[in-house]
Amino acid sequence: MPSLDFDGDYGRSYRKSIQDSIPGHDVLHEIARAAIRSTSSDAQQVLVVGPGPGDELPELLNACGDAALTVLEPSELMLEQCRKTVADHPGSGRCRLHLSTLNEALNDELKGARFDLVVCHNVLHLLPNAEQNAMLRELTQCTADGGVLLLSAYSEAENSESQREVFQVAWQRLIDRGVPDDRLEKIRDSRNKVVFSLDASRLAVALEQAGWRAPLQLYQGLFIRLWLCRAEGQAEAASAET
Ligand SMILES: C[S@@+](CC[C@H](N)C(=O)[O-])C[C@H]1O[C@@H](n2cnc3c(N)ncnc32)[C@H](O)[C@@H]1O
Repeated sequence: MPSLDFDGDYGRSYRKSIQDSIPGHDVLHEIARAAIRSTSSDAQQVLVVGPGPGDELPELLNACGDAALTVLEPSELMLEQCRKTVADHPGSGRCRLHLSTLNEALNDELKGARFDLVVCHNVLHLLPNAEQNAMLRELTQCTADGGVLLLSAYSEAENSESQREVFQVAWQRLIDRGVPDDRLEKIRDSRNKVVFSLDASRLAVALEQAGWRAPLQLYQGLFIRLWLCRAEGQAEAASAET
């Protein structure tokens, strides 16, 4: 199965190309930061899964001023960029960078670890459905009780007519941005081969299986969504309200 080459040309041009392929990438991260500040600024242990070049890390260190950050990134090139991104930050000493996938780390150095905040932006859609489900289980298992999981992913509308219309607008947006024809074709061809929808209903089922409340969708830019998920069950939530 083809995959994006984060250690090659795709990785080298990531910061520019992601602005095309993820509509509202900056806005998504701006809202994610606000969600972190409003829910988890007192977090002590934070896990970041797949930060790419790490542009989200300096603000995360600012937002969670007492936290130790554990960062998992399987691409050497991306991890090296993360290192550079945090190098001059006064909190860089609170940041531990690991060359690893989530699955590898949870079976090794992070076995049994629990985090107050887990952040995973735009990683799950790189995996086919069965692997997405496995990663969702791992993400919920490593979030501490009462903690927060912040997730974003490519996520299609479940009604095919709506999705068709979203695609037409998304396509026009790429043309308006001047994306060349060969890249347009690559993006069109990546669906269900390189990029896989994380459907909102499947996320809800995964959280329900973990005993969590339904996810709260904070943002949607065409087919990209951001969710806030709380590691807290329906029963606990109901008793807190009374
Ligand atoms: C599309 S980039 C997202 C980067 C950043 N979070 C963002 O929102 O721009 C996906 C990143 O996830 C990493 N990745 C892929 N599979 C992973 C896994 N199983 N565990 C952790 N990271 C993974 C890739 O190497 C890549 O750097």
